[in-house]
Amino acid sequence: NKFAVIMAGGVGSRFWPLSTPEHPKQFLDVLGIGKSLIQMTFERLSKIVPAENIFVVTNQIYRDLVKDQLPDLSEEAILTEPQRKNTAPCIAYAASKIYAINKEANLIVAPSDHLILQEEKFVRIVDVALNEAESTDCLVTLGIKPNRPDTGYGYIQFYQNGDLIPGSVCEVKQFMEKPNKELAELFLKSGDYYWNSGIFVWKAATILEALKKFKPDLYSLFASDFSLYNSPQEQEFVNTCFEKCEDISIDFAVMENAKNVKVVLADFDWSDLGTWGSVYSHLEKDFNGNAIIGGKAQLIDSHNCIVNIPTNRSALIQGLNDYIVVESNGKLLILSKKDEQKLKDYIKLMEE
Ligand code: GDD
Ligand code: MG
Repeated sequence: NKFAVIMAGGVGSRFWPLSTPEHPKQFLDVLGIGKSLIQMTFERLSKIVPAENIFVVTNQIYRDLVKDQLPDLSEEAILTEPQRKNTAPCIAYAASKIYAINKEANLIVAPSDHLILQEEKFVRIVDVALNEAESTDCLVTLGIKPNRPDTGYGYIQFYQNGDLIPGSVCEVKQFMEKPNKELAELFLKSGDYYWNSGIFVWKAATILEALKKFKPDLYSLFASDFSLYNSPQEQEFVNTCFEKCEDISIDFAVMENAKNVKVVLADFDWSDLGTWGSVYSHLEKDFNGNAIIGGKAQLIDSHNCIVNIPTNRSALIQGLNDYIVVESNGKLLILSKKDEQKLKDYIKLMEE
């Protein structure tokens, strides 16, 4: 009864110029280890779920990329969306389709662009979540201990029942998606908030029930007639659903409203590889703190830089500290690390 859904329809613009709308970050080998993030995600989930029960939901423009990168995935397991409507419609679609296949299905819903290297720990924590979801009909999320007041994450406040040890299951008091800086700082100090990893575990029936309660329009679009799934009419039907449905994330649509939410405290090393700086922190560095991916780079009097150039290129860099240097697709980026959050805005400027 175990199924996995990989959400792979996002854009990832803070990885420019390597990440582009035609080739977003989940399909990139950002660490230069020979595998893209979605390939690593698929491998990780294959340790828990039989490969034939893994589905990928993505935009129709990425169908071929998914096919190329995940040859073990059957074509029917690539669910395509005609429009980007965020994660709630994506989950409504996948849950309905899988429910139509198996009414008892338990789902692991995972983003495609996270870095999790400690696979054994990951498997152990997901097992706990699967047992909980199966036996108590609740919505389970994996929680990560926060170490900074990041406003890019959801925060989960939970009831502490004893020591906070990895694998503990706690009832959720409140779920808040992407708070402002002041709140995030308060949450971090209080100690009883964890980050939402964005990895969810639930029965297909339980999430559909929750959608029915909190987003009845979305529910009735996708889940009104299960006989349309896994039939020749599926794509056409789903295309109309996407045309009509609201653009909303599962966090706002369901997680902030539901009462039957639980969190499993996770201990695996987790990173939503959002920016070049977060990639840098995972790379091996030389004694000057420089990390080089791809081609040959000679750095002189330079420290704490990340350099990513194509394998057939060479670079000579002198006197540069705390910079990001990336060349890809005939585009070159030289950006100070401290300003990397502004990259999105800079790209817009350039496009104007
Ligand atoms: N199929 C599909 N369609 N996938 C999508 C879509 C869509 O329209 N939009 C986003 N995704 C995929 C992304 O590719 C990513 O793998 C995942 O869904 C999550 O989307 P993000 O856009 O990256 O979400 P976020 O990072 O801002 O926030 C979520 O993740 C955080 C942890 O990384 C939330 O769940 C937060 O609460 C959480 O803390
Ligand atoms: Mg994300």
